[in-house]
Amino acid sequence: MPNQIESDQLVRFSVAMPESLLMNFDEFVARRGVAKNRSEVVRDLVRDALIRDRVDRVGSEVVGTLTITYNHHASEVSETLHRIQHSYLNMVVSSVHVHIDEDNCLEAIILRGEVTDVRLVADLIAGTKGVKHSGLSITTVDQEF
Ligand code: NI
Repeated sequence: MPNQIESDQLVRFSVAMPESLLMNFDEFVARRGVAKNRSEVVRDLVRDALIRDRVDRVGSEVVGTLTITYNHHASEVSETLHRIQHSYLNMVVSSVHVHIDEDNCLEAIILRGEVTDVRLVADLIAGTKGVKHSGLSITTVDQEF
């Protein structure tokens, strides 16, 4: 696979930016810890932008982590969340339930499938009456990046 090896070689290029932007970026790099330098942080940011672009395209196979919080005393919320997850069991890879305090629960639900389907199921769950807060993080594993 000579092409693959060639494409993984590091290529240097120069970037021009305002000095103030660079100073802020260097502080950002410093906060990432000693193991990260400018080049590594730029590579991380480029990969993140490419993955965000990729997962926005209809047809992309993705993995989504949906985190929700809810009060388990709210009427039927637990039953409804359970019913939705059983309806889409081919997409629900796993879920973790944490009892935050006497009233509140946190659930992290891992969804896998085509991006439009993942967003649809995530919206169904997040839109359930009684869910207080939700956040969806979508990623993909792509050899290109
Ligand atoms: Ni609970």
